[in-house]
Amino acid sequence: MAKDWSKSSWRTKPRVQMPDYPDKEALERVEAELRKLPPLVFAGEARRLKRRLGEVAEGKSFLLQGGDCAESFAEFNADTIRDTFRVLLQMAVVLTYGAKKPVVKVGRIAGQFAKPRSSPIEKIGDMELPSYRGDIINDISPTPEARRPDPERMLRAYTQAAASLNLLRAFSTGGYADIHEVHSWTLGFTEGPEAERYRAIANRISDALEFMSAAGVNPDTSTKLRTVEFYTSHEALLLEYEEALCRIDSTTGLPIAGSGHMLWIGDRTRQPDGAHVEFCRGVQNPIGLKCGPSITEDELLRLIDILNPENEPGRLTLITRFGAGRVGDHLPRLIRAVEREGRTVVWSCDPMHGNTIKSASGFKTRPFDAVLREVQEFFAIHRAEGTYPGGVHFEMTGKDVTECTGGVRAVSEEDLSSRYHTACDPRLNASQALELAFLVAEELGKDNEKARLAV
Ligand code: PEP
Ligand code: CO
Repeated sequence: MAKDWSKSSWRTKPRVQMPDYPDKEALERVEAELRKLPPLVFAGEARRLKRRLGEVAEGKSFLLQGGDCAESFAEFNADTIRDTFRVLLQMAVVLTYGAKKPVVKVGRIAGQFAKPRSSPIEKIGDMELPSYRGDIINDISPTPEARRPDPERMLRAYTQAAASLNLLRAFSTGGYADIHEVHSWTLGFTEGPEAERYRAIANRISDALEFMSAAGVNPDTSTKLRTVEFYTSHEALLLEYEEALCRIDSTTGLPIAGSGHMLWIGDRTRQPDGAHVEFCRGVQNPIGLKCGPSITEDELLRLIDILNPENEPGRLTLITRFGAGRVGDHLPRLIRAVEREGRTVVWSCDPMHGNTIKSASGFKTRPFDAVLREVQEFFAIHRAEGTYPGGVHFEMTGKDVTECTGGVRAVSEEDLSSRYHTACDPRLNASQALELAFLVAEELGKDNEKARLAV
């Protein structure tokens, strides 16, 4: 067990971005109830994900992490989950082909409810309201009552996460994830004239599947082609919820967060002496750490010492998010510090959170081209430094929303108002997400080509 750690030791540390619940008794009642409920994930699964991420750290696999910025109670239904799962699988097939490596699939799902905010106050017209902090904390409606933090919402979030996981487990093993099916959906995307560029890759995947089938490897003979390992993740922001779902893993005798397989620490809550780092250092789960432009090399090394003192491969994923055009200012200095100290990490690229802008029409948006450019810069820098670009992290949905601009089925600034549904940040829609997977596959292909030439 981590030294001087308990599941409640975060309470002695400075806390930021968490609500002050006005009704303390109601909070304690909910915490007591959550403590009695079963964990949402099992320790063995989280440990297996850590092993998988260890393979990513060694350059043997690639990580795909994606899903909503914030899951919402109102948008919760089977179709939403299915559509997100489906596009993640489509992306994974394309990336597997590009990387020529297994892809570790992790959703921002079944627990991604709590949000850090840039300001505690939101101005709506001339009204000042407490900011919306995610459905697990308060309600997005613009009234003071709705914005009051309500601990009962944690129970609803738990129930929604449990129902989501139940469906995801069924989809993962019940036939829905059959690789031929998944690829046939992708062929639909590459049919139009605008997706010409991606057709060649899709056709090569078809050829590979036909070849395997002719050789007797097909979904009837191989469970690998019929089922997938799918993991859940969210930002460990609301620590009362995380603590209440923390359990002791009976196999290792060590604490494990039961709220999801992988937890990450946000860019606003990564203070080395703060509550969020304190909680995460003591649980065995794989941990993500968001690294924005303000992180220094010393701070990063200190965080690595705290979060991964044993230098265990797969324990720590650094999710960098600087903004297109700024990756070169920050990523090389961080890579060099980590390399110098001989630390094993997974490097993953979040090209979303450094690329949010306000459109002329007032909507928060992200241009597809900026998202792509950050990913390309991430790959180019790892190529130059001789390190492994291990993964990507997207805010995306399986629905046909209009929240990010651009892409081959272009969304313009004028289109943003037509289907802008996000409860928080703008997400890639299904077509933009899949297109990005094709473009990342091209980048991965370049790395494979380089490796081949080097042999
Ligand atoms: C997020 O991933 O939704 C988020 C808030 O990111 P960051 O902490 O990197 O700003
Ligand atoms: Co976000």
